[in-house]
Amino acid sequence: MALQLKSMAVIGAGTMGKGIAQWFAQQGFQVQLVDTKIEIAQTSCHQIIASWKKLVEKKKFTEEQALMFETMLSAKSLEEMNDCDLVIEAIVEKKEIKDQLFKDLDEKLPDHCIFASNTSSLSIAELSQAVSVKRRARFLGLHFFNPATIMKLVEVVGTSDVEDGLAMQIASWFQKHGKEAAQCKDGPGFIVNRLARSFYGEALRIVGDENTEQEREVDSILKQVGGFQMGPFELMDLIGIDINLDVTNIVWNAFHKNPRFAPHPLQEKMVKDGRFGKKTKKGFFSYE
Ligand code: NAI
Repeated sequence: MALQLKSMAVIGAGTMGKGIAQWFAQQGFQVQLVDTKIEIAQTSCHQIIASWKKLVEKKKFTEEQALMFETMLSAKSLEEMNDCDLVIEAIVEKKEIKDQLFKDLDEKLPDHCIFASNTSSLSIAELSQAVSVKRRARFLGLHFFNPATIMKLVEVVGTSDVEDGLAMQIASWFQKHGKEAAQCKDGPGFIVNRLARSFYGEALRIVGDENTEQEREVDSILKQVGGFQMGPFELMDLIGIDINLDVTNIVWNAFHKNPRFAPHPLQEKMVKDGRFGKKTKKGFFSYE
């Protein structure tokens, strides 16, 4: 059956949810951006609209396009959200919270709706156990990268329960819409986040403790000599130290606490102190 995707909802209006919602609105989708409190979703919608205004100034879009995108986007609470063809979950990286959400959505949304998780590290097959057997045939991982409007890669993760051809159809749909879709096996951290554990972990072990100058130096070397767009410390600040620590712990546990995936005490200290990176204006670096 050909993919009929016209409307979608993103649950979780944080760092990733905002970017995913913005990108889908730009593809002509009716997008509902949903969070626990409608105020959070509304604030995120205002930020997306402000971003379109800036993109008009930069001549990336016309004013008419930006106004059209705006009409495609709405903020919703979980209770208010309407039926849609695709729902992407982008809430906190905690399995039990995601499980409850998927269970509720399964009861609420029509059978044809495709379910996807933007999880960085949790098993898609295990997450899909929260929904009915029938829905598991339409349950995938769609892992976007930050910022989702700009980063081209999407990891498409199927399971043995997914209906034949669906992961492939979705991957080709993304290709047609300008993304690079990589079909991945369902394993801890998929491809990128498994490799990236060493990128962050080794950088933290090299610096050892808080030392802004050395953190800057490591970032600068990797950018200048390694050709990376961002160094590990600025990237951790962009991702969110809290989310990155959750992902590290999940991958570490999935590999039976193999020391090469171990979290660093500095990550734990920063989370305890509420220094989550750019989103709290303080991480390894300051963003006041
Ligand atoms: P975030 O902390 O910025 O945002 C999470 C949002 O989810 C918050 O607005 C929160 O209010 C909302 N939320 C929490 N529980 C909810 C529930 N039960 N129902 C509705 N909304 C709920 O998190 P972020 O960084 O956007 O991460 C979200 C997911 O995306 C995680 O699974 C993470 O692993 C993944 N991810 C994160 C990336 C990053 O660079 N931050 C990159 C790729 C994936």
